[in-house]
Amino acid sequence: MYSEKVMDHFNNPRNVGEIEQASGVGTVGNAKCGDIMRIYLDIDEETKVINDCKFKTFGCGAAVATSSMATELVKGKSIYDALKVTNKAVMEALDGLPAHKMHCSVLAEQAVRAALADYYKRQGIDPEPIVGTIQEIDHNAG
Ligand code: FES
Repeated sequence: MYSEKVMDHFNNPRNVGEIEQASGVGTVGNAKCGDIMRIYLDIDEETKVINDCKFKTFGCGAAVATSSMATELVKGKSIYDALKVTNKAVMEALDGLPAHKMHCSVLAEQAVRAALADYYKRQGIDPEPIVGTIQEIDHNAG
């Protein structure tokens, strides 16, 4: 049911961990399955290129694989190109996912966008016109 690439990224996830003093951190969750994904970005102030990207995911195997692939896809890209990394692009890079696991890739796209939104917020820029509305998990609530 899973492609070799999905299994590879599940068994050997790339870029696991956190970035201290990250330029942006995004945490999103899926209310239905309860899975949570957090992405850290290290962004070059001048070039706006994502130098490093790490993730932590509390979730299913597909969530781990999609987070891993999403970090690979955005690393080395400018923040503008990273915004174009959709869940479809993540799924294609993994040679597909079963239909009922599609939402796991949506979580990966949202986590990247949430981290970018956080970056814009830290720069004093309203992120909504750029990255849209993201249902971020509020760490200070409850
Ligand atoms: Fe929810 Fe995979 S089952 S993220």
